[in-house]
Amino acid sequence: MCRRMFVAAVCLILPFALAGMGGPVAASTLERGAVAAPESQAAEVGGSILSRGGNAVDAAVAVQFAIAVTNAIGAGIGGGGFMLIHEPAAGEVVALDYRETAPAGAHRDMFLDQHGDVDAELSIHSALASGVPGTVRGMAAVHKQYGSLPWAELIQPAIDLAENGFEIDPWTAGKILEYGDKFALISERFREQVEFKLYFNGGAGDRMKIPDLAGTLRRIAEQGPEEFYTGETAEMIVAEMQRGGGLITADDLAAYRPKWRDPIEGYYRGYRIVSMPPPSSGGVILIEFMNMLEPFERLALHSPQQIHLIAEAAKRVFADRSEYLGDPAFADVPVDVLTAKDYARARASDIDLARRTDPATLKAGDLPVRVDSDGQTTHFSIVDRNGLAVSNTTTMNTGYGSGLVVDGAGFLLNSQMNDFSAKPGVPNVYGVTGSAANEIAPGKRPLSSMTPTMVFGPGGHLELVLGSPGGPTIITTVLEVILHATDYDRSLAEAVDLPRFHHQWPPAVTGTDPIAIETDERYTLAPETIAALSELGYTFDKVESLGDVQAVEIDGRRVTGVYDRRRTGGVVYD
Ligand code: GLY
Repeated sequence: MCRRMFVAAVCLILPFALAGMGGPVAASTLERGAVAAPESQAAEVGGSILSRGGNAVDAAVAVQFAIAVTNAIGAGIGGGGFMLIHEPAAGEVVALDYRETAPAGAHRDMFLDQHGDVDAELSIHSALASGVPGTVRGMAAVHKQYGSLPWAELIQPAIDLAENGFEIDPWTAGKILEYGDKFALISERFREQVEFKLYFNGGAGDRMKIPDLAGTLRRIAEQGPEEFYTGETAEMIVAEMQRGGGLITADDLAAYRPKWRDPIEGYYRGYRIVSMPPPSSGGVILIEFMNMLEPFERLALHSPQQIHLIAEAAKRVFADRSEYLGDPAFADVPVDVLTAKDYARARASDIDLARRTDPATLKAGDLPVRVDSDGQTTHFSIVDRNGLAVSNTTTMNTGYGSGLVVDGAGFLLNSQMNDFSAKPGVPNVYGVTGSAANEIAPGKRPLSSMTPTMVFGPGGHLELVLGSPGGPTIITTVLEVILHATDYDRSLAEAVDLPRFHHQWPPAVTGTDPIAIETDERYTLAPETIAALSELGYTFDKVESLGDVQAVEIDGRRVTGVYDRRRTGGVVYD
């Protein structure tokens, strides 16, 4: 990482001068700031905030509200997320948890039917699917702590996009069709609730306006963040809940608070990895994963042996995720043990590079699950000229959340309640299981896989800011991009643009051992690699693509942003 003079042009990175090459220098001399966002109009918003003198957190707040308009599939004011902020002057990274909470009326068995079976659709597409949204108070918290431009000024670009319209890109147009069909099917059951098609329609190149959302954003801009939680918007959410039989009350909204947390840290071959703590599993599992891999020699990239090693480690870390991870306010999460090098070494001691471990012999059940990359979460990374850096992953959970639009307010509500374990050992929409540590309880935050991450080089300087959507595939996506950049010395653009694969332990079908691979022809693995892994006994789940990484690299004074060609996105410099 950071050793190449030129960056491959695969991601349409804007050109820049190679001034000031050499070793790391004071972060305050960065040549320019960069915004890597999952949608180009939102990236433009972030770039314009930096250009007008705003800092990275100002830009992050503006991008967060902008993607709530242009990228509603994976972000919104009806959702939540996690943010890491690195302040070079203070030399520290702080983590903000603005994850949704279960309403006070929630209870452990709320998604079980009369036979005790999980009613998955209820946990994804009904008014019960939504946790209390955290995005608006989350953005208010980081703005209060770090912001330099006025709150209303940061929301204005989003208001403009919602009011005047934004251009629908081809990827989004495809998703609007796909989800429109999907929601049309489920709306028979939740007929009164899901009004997706009333708000979301249009093809590639069309302009979409969301006037109700413009009105909501204007109220939040003018009256402040509290408007969402105690004002007219709060009343609209409560009315929507009453119409659909949901649980979120005025008290739930008023009581919601984001939480500042200490990030998770670990070291991998001299690099310091900083990531999100529980209630995300992301940071803990990423560090455990890297600790397991570190004692092994570097194997050829995408060789059958390297993929097998990572799959074996994945089985073990995802089994641990299922057993131990949950909201630390409700469960005793053994973070120190899970992130300890000794523990990982012991856990990996039975990995055999020549033989597969049957997943059914690992802890916790062999259950009927499958990898579903429906995770339409959103990540953006921003670094400003002063080196202030933001790594932010935000989500509605499944694509367009529950599909339920708050009447009159123009925004979707999340389906985050599905991230809880509705019943021990029964997989959620992503095929991951959980235990009592992640059972539903009032006020509890559902376990996440979101992994906003920062990587510091052996010299101590921040080198990489990254993250991705994709449910549990987020963790392997972030892991693999870091490995590409560090172990395999690829430029950031190359690291993001290499094929990815994923394993998460419990097999889809008894007797199988599935590795998820990408079918997009730009990211397929070599046929001989697949053949060799099949020989070992692996099976394959095919998904179009894995993850959508938005990342920024800092190399001395040089700042390079990269967006992932797998979806749509943009990089803008100030
Ligand atoms: N909702 C996806 C996640 O938080 O992992």
